[in-house]
Amino acid sequence: MKKILSLITMILAFVMTSCAGTTNSDNNSKATEDMETSIKGKKTLVVFFSHTGENYGVGNIKEGNTHIIADMIGEATGGTLFEIVPEKDYPHNSYDAVVEIAKKEKEEKARPAIKGDVKIEDYDVIFIGYPNWWSDMPMPVYTFIEKHDWNGKTVVPFCTHEGSGLSQTEKYIAEACKGASVKKGLAVKGTTAQNNREQAKKTVNSWLEKL
Ligand SMILES: Cc1cc2nc3c(=O)[nH]c(=O)nc-3n(C[C@H](O)[C@H](O)[C@H](O)COP(=O)(O)O)c2cc1C
Repeated sequence: MKKILSLITMILAFVMTSCAGTTNSDNNSKATEDMETSIKGKKTLVVFFSHTGENYGVGNIKEGNTHIIADMIGEATGGTLFEIVPEKDYPHNSYDAVVEIAKKEKEEKARPAIKGDVKIEDYDVIFIGYPNWWSDMPMPVYTFIEKHDWNGKTVVPFCTHEGSGLSQTEKYIAEACKGASVKKGLAVKGTTAQNNREQAKKTVNSWLEKL
C-alpha cells in the first residue's frame, strides 16, 4: 500500500511540474538564453551527484545518468570532475527504497554527510549536476553547496530527470549559492543519457557551444 501511494505521489509530482511549464524535454533552447558569459579560458569544475543500481526506466545501471552527462561536459570543457558521494550510500537494489529515503530526507531538509571535498575557490565556473529527486536536488547536493563560499562564482546547473525537467532547482541553487551568478540550466532525460548517448551528446554540445 505504501509503495502504491509513493508511486501515485511521484506520478502526480511529474504531471504537476510538467503542467507548470518547466523544461520537460531534451530541447533546451530556453536553457541557453541567459548564457552569454563565455566560459572559454575560465577554470571549470563539474560537480555532480548521481546514483547507480536500480533506477527509473533504465533498469540496473552501472553508471548514473547524471554522471554520463557530467562526463560529456567535462570532456567538452576540459573541466575537472568532482563527484558528491554520501557517506551513507543509498540502496542500489531497490528504486522504491531510494524514493522513500529521498522523500523523508527532503521533508526533513536533511544534510547527509558527504565524502571528500574540492577547493571551489580554485575555479571560476562551476557546473552543478544532479538527478531530479522529488522535484528538487538530492539533499547531499545541498550539503556540498552549503559547505562553500560562492561569492563571485559562475554556477551552471544541469540535471537528468524523467519528466519534471529542472523543476524549481535553478531557483533553489540561486538561493543556496549566495553571491554567485547562476545561469539557466540544462535538463536531459535520464533514459536519453543512458540509452541514446549520441543524442545526449548533441544536446550537451549544442548547449555548451552557446556558452
Ligand atoms: C528518489 C527519486 C526521486 C525522483 N523524482 C523525480 C521527479 O520528481 N521528477 C522526475 O522527472 N524524475 C524523478 N526521478 C527520476 C530521476 O530524476 C532520473 O531517473 C535521473 O535520470 C536519475 O539520475 P542518476 O542516474 O544520475 O541518479 C526520481 C528518481 C529517484 C531515484
